[in-house]
Amino acid sequence: MLAAGSQVHILDNLDAFYDPAIKRHNLALLSAQGGADCQFFEGDIRSADACKTAIRGCDSVIHLAALAGVRPSIVDPVRYMEVNVTGTQVLLQQIDSKQVQFVFGGSSSVYGSNKKVPFAECDSVENPMSPYAASKRAGELLCSTFHHLHGNPVVVLRFFTVYGPRQRPEMAIHLFARSIKNGTPLPFYGDGETRRDYTFVEDIASGVALAVTKAKGFGIYNLGGSATTSLRELVAALEAQLGQTAVLRRLPDQAGDVPITCADIRLAERDLGYRCTTTVQEGLRRFCDWYLIERTAGRLQ
Ligand SMILES: NC(=O)c1ccc[n+]([C@@H]2O[C@H](COP(=O)([O-])OP(=O)(O)OC[C@H]3O[C@@H](n4cnc5c(N)ncnc54)[C@H](O)[C@@H]3O)[C@@H](O)[C@H]2O)c1
Repeated sequence: MLAAGSQVHILDNLDAFYDPAIKRHNLALLSAQGGADCQFFEGDIRSADACKTAIRGCDSVIHLAALAGVRPSIVDPVRYMEVNVTGTQVLLQQIDSKQVQFVFGGSSSVYGSNKKVPFAECDSVENPMSPYAASKRAGELLCSTFHHLHGNPVVVLRFFTVYGPRQRPEMAIHLFARSIKNGTPLPFYGDGETRRDYTFVEDIASGVALAVTKAKGFGIYNLGGSATTSLRELVAALEAQLGQTAVLRRLPDQAGDVPITCADIRLAERDLGYRCTTTVQEGLRRFCDWYLIERTAGRLQ
């Protein structure tokens, strides 16, 4: 949004789910890029005042704040509901003009263990397999109710495993790269045949920007890469990029994990003009380039 010349307000409470120093560094990069066009508000989406202050004067609200991560949500489901569900409702409630568009960062996890591949927006989302997935589905429903009551344009975007520079440190690609470089055991779940639709962050960002431009009515769209990579293939590709061999720690399948995710992106292509242009090979190369620079600079392990 900054690159397109927009003024951007960022609201984030710098939650300690991962090291807030990483978030501060990311914010410093945005601030350097945007100058006066980029304003940061440190605050919690569960606070009506914080939301009101941050969105004042904005014509679009892009709601990405959340507790992310499937497995931690099984350990602390109540906190996930407070932030992802109540926080979403508090934020929606502070929108006081019908002209303001709302874009919600949803998740492919709502499809649960959908058997039909690729996953389409009309597929069942009745069986989320983790509190995180249930909280993201609840967020979608709150968005739909908000649109029904107030008429604002609302777009729900279901992201499929996002990766690339600045990826969260506990996500698979980042965690695996760290294990490979440090020679520590890489947690390898099941037989390595679980498959994910990995989507490069710039493709997601361009999808979000398109949703802001094209938003009208209420719509739900998948943003994915529409191709799948197995866990085994992913580890091999990272080993090749980093020039080191992984030490595998074999573990059973995990609770809450789904066997496959794969996006049907035809609706987003048709209505938003969305295109996923980055191959996993290219995206992993760009992730590894970034990771090695950050590691050398001492900002990542
Ligand atoms: N990364 C993925 O693969 C992926 C996939 C599907 C959906 N998503 C969704 O995309 C969004 C961004 O995810 P991400 O991977 O960048 O995670 P992230 O943790 O890096 O970003 C979420 C941000 O929300 C902030 N936050 C948490 N609780 C808050 C609160 N109470 N008030 C204000 N800010 C708060 C955190 O500090 C963090 O900076 C999330 O909504 C997530 O559910 C991500």
